[in-house]
Amino acid sequence: MGEFEMTTDTLILAIETSCDETSVSVIKNGTKILSNTVLSQIDSHKRFGGVVPEVASRHHVEGITATIQESLETANVSMNDVNAIAVTQGPGLIGALLIGINAAKALAFAYDKTIIPVHHIAGHIYANHLEQPLTFPLMALIVSGGHTELVYMKDHLNFEVIGETRDDAVGEAYDKVARTINLPYPGGPHIDRLASQGKDTYEFPRVWLEKDSYDFSFSGLKSAVINKLHNLRQKNENIIAEDVATSFQNSVVEVLTYKAIHACHDYQVNRLIVAGGVASNKGLRTSLTNSCKYEDIQLTIPSPKLCTDNAAMIGAAGHYLYQAGLRGNLALNGENNIDIEDFSM
Ligand code: KG4
Ligand code: ZN
Repeated sequence: MGEFEMTTDTLILAIETSCDETSVSVIKNGTKILSNTVLSQIDSHKRFGGVVPEVASRHHVEGITATIQESLETANVSMNDVNAIAVTQGPGLIGALLIGINAAKALAFAYDKTIIPVHHIAGHIYANHLEQPLTFPLMALIVSGGHTELVYMKDHLNFEVIGETRDDAVGEAYDKVARTINLPYPGGPHIDRLASQGKDTYEFPRVWLEKDSYDFSFSGLKSAVINKLHNLRQKNENIIAEDVATSFQNSVVEVLTYKAIHACHDYQVNRLIVAGGVASNKGLRTSLTNSCKYEDIQLTIPSPKLCTDNAAMIGAAGHYLYQAGLRGNLALNGENNIDIEDFSM
């Protein structure tokens, strides 16, 4: 590499369309957000009570070109200034992923740019890096609508999944419980709000699984809450939604906190990062903050706008994958069943 290139900034244009946000970002040198444009479809999916894949794809098609334009304008850069295009390859809704991937391919072809495929969860992890540089080794607790896992990282782009959910993701459990108490989609933030106003009066289970397992299971808890609600309704008994929310959230938060701290101890790391939509949860943030303070573990949780799906996080992870030499090409395909460990470099 010549001297000129070594002193030049690296600009990554990043595209994220794996679920219900069309997002495009420009990231400088892996950490500086020049723009992070997010076009949310939530209002459109609300009336169906969840994300409808076909509707999501249509919105991505309609919004992607303008979102790319807006993101470049906000960053005040042109496609010629961009070094590479990072795009979410998966996991996610396949039709939705393909809109972002095809946009990335079209740009790469038209402007002769490199494509960098990015794992969506690697993106969530790197959202932390945008606010506070990652230090290693670290433990990452991923809590989103589709994933719940603990990832041990010895270094940049070194992903080892040490535990994951055996059934529902934590966000999925939140959304289903929310639907049962007639809260709008996505239910997580609504349960979170109610939980701060209620009391832990319903005795819901904590699912620990085998001793020393870092795996999670939330379907039993979800069913326990839903059964309890059906039961009370059948008997025409009063349901206190705030108390249901508090009791449910306490169960979730207790298990997540205990397992994350336990994993930090066992792997001898003193840095914990949290990632994914549920990382916005106030109960979880408070519980982890208190426990990490007590245990002397450095905790980072991105600000809420970087917790939910956005392209800036894809750009941050994409930057390091680019530096490590990962390259996609015009045959790049979306993949739902794609393993984060395959992105270890
Ligand atoms: O990471 P994300 O934006 O999308 C996925 O990749 O899945 O996460 C979305 C999930 C939804 O299930 C939503 O209900 C949940 O994150 N969520 C929350 C909160 N904010 C978003 N769950 C609990 N408490 C919150 N404050
Ligand atoms: Zn996500």
